[in-house]
Amino acid sequence: MRIRKKKNAPIRFERCAEYTAETEGLLERFYEIFDAEKPLEMEIGSGKGRFIAELAEQNPQKQFISIERVIDCLVMAMEKAQAKELQNIKYFCLDAGTLTEYFPAQCADVIYLNFSDPWPKSRYAKRRLTHRRMVGAYLPLLKKEGKICFKTDNRPLFDFSVEEFQEMGFRLEELTYDLHSTDTPNIMTEYEERFSAMGVPINRFVAYPTEKTYAFFQ
Ligand SMILES: C[S@@+](CC[C@H](N)C(=O)[O-])C[C@H]1O[C@@H](n2cnc3c(N)ncnc32)[C@H](O)[C@@H]1O
Repeated sequence: MRIRKKKNAPIRFERCAEYTAETEGLLERFYEIFDAEKPLEMEIGSGKGRFIAELAEQNPQKQFISIERVIDCLVMAMEKAQAKELQNIKYFCLDAGTLTEYFPAQCADVIYLNFSDPWPKSRYAKRRLTHRRMVGAYLPLLKKEGKICFKTDNRPLFDFSVEEFQEMGFRLEELTYDLHSTDTPNIMTEYEERFSAMGVPINRFVAYPTEKTYAFFQ
């Protein structure tokens, strides 16, 4: 995602401060901020954040977390939540590889990966959010009965991810190479809108960890 560097990102971030929380000590304070009794869903790599803001708006009974490592994108995402006056979402400028430092084990019912960066060169494959190294880093956050929902326009990334998730022992369901031709309820992301307008089909699967997955990461 090409985002022009915004000089005023820190000021805009401050104006949306109610939509984040101090990351220092977050792990210890997590259940002071989030309700352990309510479902919690997380998007990793939210970009400008349309998907997660709409999802939060449609599901006021659930809680949401948006993770994005680029502050300029995160600010735009936070401003969407503020404009909608959402009460059930927080945003964090963090890298996917560090999340267990901030969030407790098995806190999330669903993890969404939408149009993750493809990192097409094989020497950078380990940076893909669907690479076993990255999945192993954030999987501890997912409840045992939770799921990972992945969608992308990028067929080589999708094929890589199907193989990778199968090797990690996940059970794949709802696999489609043309999401928009199915009747699956769908909230479009910014990238999704752009690529589907160009006629590119959208691939999606839902992955459930199994005993084999936890044995794989032992
Ligand atoms: C291609 S964009 C897609 C954005 C959005 N999900 C959408 O579909 O419109 C991928 C986003 O993931 C973020 N990202 C990539 N790797 C990440 C990581 N390791 N941790 C957190 N965010 C990451 C990027 O900064 C970028 O904003």
